[in-house]
Amino acid sequence: MNHWVELDKRYFMDTGHRRLEVTLVRGEGARVWDDAGREYLDFIAGWAACSLGHCHPVIQEVIREQASRLILASLDVYTTPQIELAELLLSTSGLAKIFICNSGAEANEGAVKLARKYGKLHLSGAYEVISALKSFHGRTLAMVAATGKPEYQAPFTPLPEGFTNVPYNDIAALRAAVRERTCAILLEPIQGEGGVRIPSEHYLQEVRALCDERGILLILDEVQTGCGRTGTLWAHEYSGIRPDIMTVGKGLGGGVPIAAFLANERAACFGPGDHGSTYGGNPLCSAVAAAVLRFILKEDLVGHAARVGGDFRERLLALRGKWDIVKEVRGRGLLLAVEFTRPVALAMAQACCERGLLVNPIPPQTIRFMPPLIIGRSEVDQAMVILEGAINQMAQVAASSEGAR
Ligand SMILES: Cc1ncc(COP(=O)(O)O)c(C=O)c1O
Repeated sequence: MNHWVELDKRYFMDTGHRRLEVTLVRGEGARVWDDAGREYLDFIAGWAACSLGHCHPVIQEVIREQASRLILASLDVYTTPQIELAELLLSTSGLAKIFICNSGAEANEGAVKLARKYGKLHLSGAYEVISALKSFHGRTLAMVAATGKPEYQAPFTPLPEGFTNVPYNDIAALRAAVRERTCAILLEPIQGEGGVRIPSEHYLQEVRALCDERGILLILDEVQTGCGRTGTLWAHEYSGIRPDIMTVGKGLGGGVPIAAFLANERAACFGPGDHGSTYGGNPLCSAVAAAVLRFILKEDLVGHAARVGGDFRERLLALRGKWDIVKEVRGRGLLLAVEFTRPVALAMAQACCERGLLVNPIPPQTIRFMPPLIIGRSEVDQAMVILEGAINQMAQVAASSEGAR
């Protein structure tokens, strides 16, 4: 076992995350290097956060510049990078007000607080938030309650009250779950961690209509899908609807920790004392996020994600004709997944890693691709060669174990 791996195992609580035995020390663009100098193509990209790839010159420059001016102030005062970022996010989302924080979970917590306050003010104290099974909204206690995965919830009961989980992409289930005490519905426009699940064409429109009919708020969690990842700036654009509250994070910071929740005039009901954060909207991360978002827009990385992601998806789809173990390809833009017929996710990710490609396993049988938005076609070519090699290896293992039976 590598020295660093040994130390890591000794020091850290085991949350089951380190599934690839690689110790990274450097990154540039879509490539990373380990402590032995081995190069990998990174199609995990900080779980979709490194939108401009690793150590992009624009990010380096802004960090250098801003770090020499002002790193942190406090919410007692005004700071310019935060205001510039707010302007960019609000103008591109059509929403009216924003609060900037540090992580996706925190953004969703803020969104739920906002919805509960709205419930107190306008819905006779309604407080319940309905979210979906197989969703993912973060790891705080309330977001564990919102995240519809019993295995993430069971060890931590009793969970905060006021959350109900229903099947995703099932408008009848959602309709049946809305009660007097419901203040909001919280959904991902595409379920990311749940295995890249795209709802049927009219689902979000139906959810929007249900929220309007019942006077409750629609919160869309665009933490993973936002900022161009799925080939539109915000993933919900494909449905033509607008949320009342939207949360963003990950790719917004291009690798630095920043997130936000945004709301329309109606939902933006926080008043003095309702929320706060020491680091939220700090000048350093806000300056980086503003530069990242400007770069995404100026270089049309959104269109690039749609085009390169579309080609990548076609090539993944073609794998189905070649190997029986490839069951399904899902996704949009540069958020893609391949599901296999067998529980090979971990072994597949490890086989890819050995060949120089990092992909994210979603056990038991799905792998997910979230390369940086700056990914080039030649890098996709290279990833495909590696992936096909890994699938071939798995298919042979499967065939020989069947033969031995
Ligand atoms: C849709 C979604 N929401 C929220 C989160 C939580 O974000 P964070 O890990 O920054 O708290 C994630 C993280 O994967 C996510 O995919």
